[in-house]
Amino acid sequence: MLLIECKNINRYFGEGANRVHVLKNINLAIRKGDFVAIIGQSGSGKSTLMSILGLLDTPSDGTYAIAGVETSHMSADDLAAMRRKRFGFIFQRYNLLGSLSARDNVALPAVYAGIPHDERCRRADKLLGRLGLAGKEHNKPNELSGGQQQRVSIARALMNGGEIIFADEPTGALDSGSGENVMAIIRSLHQDGHTVIMVTHDPNIAAQANRVIEIKDGEIIADRSKTQDIAPSNVQSIQEKHGWAFYKDQLQEACSMSVQAIVAHKMRSLLTMLGIIIGIAAVVSVVALGKGTQQKILADISAMGTNTISIYPGKGFGDRTRHRIRTLTVADSRAIAGLSYVESTTPLSSGSGTLTFRNTDLSAGVYGVGAQYFQVRGLKLDRGRLFDEQEVRDNAQVVVIDRNTLRKLFPEGTDPLGKTVLFRKRPLTVIGIVKDGNSPFGPSDNLQLWTPYTTLMNQISGAKYISNITVKVKDNVNSQVAEKGINELLLSRHGTQDFFMNNSDSIKQTVESTTGTMRLLIASIALISLIVGGIGVMNIMLVSVTERTREIGVRMAIGARQRNILQQFLIEAVLLCLIGGVVGVLLSFALGVVFNSLVSDFSMLFSMASIIGAVLCSTAIGVLFGYMPAKNASKLNPIDALARD
Ligand SMILES: Nc1ncnc2c1ncn2[C@@H]1O[C@H](COP(=O)(O)OP(=O)(O)O)[C@@H](O)[C@H]1O
Ligand SMILES: [Mg+2]
Repeated sequence: MLLIECKNINRYFGEGANRVHVLKNINLAIRKGDFVAIIGQSGSGKSTLMSILGLLDTPSDGTYAIAGVETSHMSADDLAAMRRKRFGFIFQRYNLLGSLSARDNVALPAVYAGIPHDERCRRADKLLGRLGLAGKEHNKPNELSGGQQQRVSIARALMNGGEIIFADEPTGALDSGSGENVMAIIRSLHQDGHTVIMVTHDPNIAAQANRVIEIKDGEIIADRSKTQDIAPSNVQSIQEKHGWAFYKDQLQEACSMSVQAIVAHKMRSLLTMLGIIIGIAAVVSVVALGKGTQQKILADISAMGTNTISIYPGKGFGDRTRHRIRTLTVADSRAIAGLSYVESTTPLSSGSGTLTFRNTDLSAGVYGVGAQYFQVRGLKLDRGRLFDEQEVRDNAQVVVIDRNTLRKLFPEGTDPLGKTVLFRKRPLTVIGIVKDGNSPFGPSDNLQLWTPYTTLMNQISGAKYISNITVKVKDNVNSQVAEKGINELLLSRHGTQDFFMNNSDSIKQTVESTTGTMRLLIASIALISLIVGGIGVMNIMLVSVTERTREIGVRMAIGARQRNILQQFLIEAVLLCLIGGVVGVLLSFALGVVFNSLVSDFSMLFSMASIIGAVLCSTAIGVLFGYMPAKNASKLNPIDALARD
């Protein structure tokens, strides 16, 4: 029976003037079970012919059928399937994959054929044992001698059945002892019914075959057979398995091979990841920092009093005449306090002047406020007491001071409570000390003192108008609605809009949106660094593909589909980026721990969203920047890939 049939095959290389005619009108038929040696001088076209017979290369013209099936119209994947199911290759330079153990090298064709893991390992071990390599299953190729490596590659050729064995100078790189050993194995394969097609330049080796075809300058010049009786062959090609388990297994295999490739080039992998690590760490840290800052500012605003509305004279904060505008009065404050949805109001009047205690003179501002003021503004008492409504009504000559005043005005060790200070020569008794406020703008150096507004206005400054009314709205009332009501009330009292308000909710919103914008801005800068990192990954993957072209060629020769190659390089890129992403997130956590232990004022807040985002982002970068190199790899021509060093 005819297994291989070539008609009028020509092969040219190069274009135009450089075109060389390497194979000239080859007509060849090989029967199943035969042992054929192709012999000729170096450069005569033997390897080219064998590559065409092995479906690693395509003829420029002519037809080639295997078991009656014409091959010229087959797709790359159909050709791969043919190689995988029926062919086994033995190369002069073994072509084992350096990062895989002997067993994994042997089992590789079965991975692409969908044979389950346990089954293919068993089969690989059996083949290795049969070829005298028991105990070497876990050795890497560089831990084996040349003869041993060639036997591993023979085992690989037999893995999927190896109905047709192609051997190109199988003994070319071996010493004579190992060479004879390999030839003995090849002869026994022939006896077992494998069809063997062997290329050699050595007549002694060719003599061991049944049929010797001599080729010279691309033409067959002699064809002799020892015998025409060929024992019927019963070598079967394997049954491929498909289905869900098959895809899962291939994915798993691609993952583990990617890990091996990454581990095999530790330094390069690390440098590749560095871009991603820095990018992801930057994004996550910046977002966490922004969130922490925002949280801090919002907390400060709430401490200042929630649901409060401040009313000022003038048209707005930019109004330069507003300090001269006299319009708000204590009566306004009382009227507002009468509204049903207002919890309390407190007027504020301020005055500045000299503050004296014993021999110390300081210039200071004193706020005249209502008893509710401290609560509305979120000021906390440190020692002593605050003044009450009664004292406000009575123009009591009392004052509450802050810690700045305490430090600057009183000598160390003096208890200020009960002491009398002079403000504009009027005596005021210190009754309480307030804790350092948490102003969103940081601690201030100002001295702050609070006395009842009645005391300040009636006894000290003589002012008739106040500079601000702070309104605390009841908790369940919408502050916008309250603002409108107060506005109407004041308009009816004043006749014109000679005042303006601002409410703490709108400050909060402004802060939220400002820090949000800042965060977006910084995060987008960090995103650019991520893209740069991604381009780094692409670069390395392109280098990696070029560097491993030969490996890709070997994989294709033993039957990898384009999809398998694409998948493997893509997984490698994604894995690199993912590891980079995870390391980046961890780095950012570490940064957070250090930062939070050094800075007590506010902390970095990590959100789940930013971490998930970072991981998704690095995966996307892997896919995006890994696809092009992976696609390039999968589109390589097997023979070109194999020929590359
Ligand atoms: N890819 C190629 N491009 C150009 N010329 C090639 C290519 N492959 C082989 N050749 C040429 O074809 C001729 C036969 O090569 P080859 O089949 O490898 O010879 P052999 O295996 O008999 O030594 C040589 O002259 C070689 O230079
Ligand atoms: Mg050759």
